[in-house]
Amino acid sequence: MENISRWLDLARWAPSGDNSQPWDVRFEEHTDALVFRISVKKDSIRTVFDQVFHGSYVSLGTFSQNLVLLAEAEGYFCTKIDVLTEVGQPATFVLTFRQELSHGSKIWKKPIEELIRHRRVTRYPYQVKPLDPEILEALQVSLSEFPEIRFSYLESPYHELASLFFKLDKFRYRHSLAYNQFLDELRTETEFQRTQDGLALKSLGTPLPAQWFLLLLRRFRWLHFLIHLGVGAVMAYLGGYFLIVRSGAIGALCASSNSPLSWFRFGMAFQKVWLSAVDEGLAFQPMGTPLLVYSAVAVNDTDHFSPRDRQELQEISKSMLDRFKIDLEKPCVFFRIGKTSKVAPDSARKPMPPLERA
Ligand SMILES: Cc1cc2nc3c(=O)[nH]c(=O)nc-3n(C[C@H](O)[C@H](O)[C@H](O)COP(=O)(O)O)c2cc1C
Repeated sequence: MENISRWLDLARWAPSGDNSQPWDVRFEEHTDALVFRISVKKDSIRTVFDQVFHGSYVSLGTFSQNLVLLAEAEGYFCTKIDVLTEVGQPATFVLTFRQELSHGSKIWKKPIEELIRHRRVTRYPYQVKPLDPEILEALQVSLSEFPEIRFSYLESPYHELASLFFKLDKFRYRHSLAYNQFLDELRTETEFQRTQDGLALKSLGTPLPAQWFLLLLRRFRWLHFLIHLGVGAVMAYLGGYFLIVRSGAIGALCASSNSPLSWFRFGMAFQKVWLSAVDEGLAFQPMGTPLLVYSAVAVNDTDHFSPRDRQELQEISKSMLDRFKIDLEKPCVFFRIGKTSKVAPDSARKPMPPLERA
């Protein structure tokens, strides 16, 4: 029981979209197995962009990958993942672990606990010189237990990809009022320390002026008109275009189907490759929000998006498919990898509630 609480306490250092940390965990101990029921926390659905829970499933997957690796280090292997579904409710993923002889899993250079605890998003420009192909191959190999997920690297220069992201990001800022719940949940550092809830502004990684702007927007929603006057384009340039072209390599992960389990396993794979990059001494940043947001919801959401919006997204989605063979209708994410001497700041986590037995 002590071990389980320690695993969960470490697993919560997993990455999650907007640092939402949507995991709810219940635990059962059987004579021959440990069973974890991992589902989406009741109060964590906060944006129009996660109505079908895809982003949350990815985050449950990153969390579960941590759990799998921590358990493996102590001789427990995840032998089964079941999915429980109920109409209108998010799926629950049931992970069964059994004590078994070693499965010959990946050998890490650094202790896995250290990797899990110190993995961070690094949102700085990286050295642009190409990375050692052997290291890149090692990242690819780390995903061998996910045969359904395609891993690829893009050819540099990355201007074309950066332009598509720029369009997606501008779209996102233009619709940031659809993010009303997101703005409601924003917390300054002091507020976060006091409430231990909401989205800690610091961990979103936006530059300081953009953080001030978001706080102003939270207070005075009418200031949104500034986005249309070019502020959105500046934010999209600095937070997307500029960083993409300053990367050592750009990778992509794509899954071939769209079920809750695919999104969940996609999250597991995503975390595995991220930890592998950290193990190789590389900095890493997902460029995932626009893809997850728009592929999953916006194209079909007639309540929040106009026909013109949807047409714009469909055009972007077509370019992604034609140019990069990335199908936005399925789980996919891009990420920047590179070397940098800058140290990413620690991000915030909510405490794990006391362990509940199912
Ligand atoms: C599905 C997913 C998508 C993400 N997309 C982005 C992104 O587009 N840009 C970014 O800087 N971080 C992105 N992140 C990283 C989260 O913002 C980050 O994990 C969270 O703020 C906690 O910070 P930490 O990972 O440094 O602990 C993403 C994370 C996940 C799981």
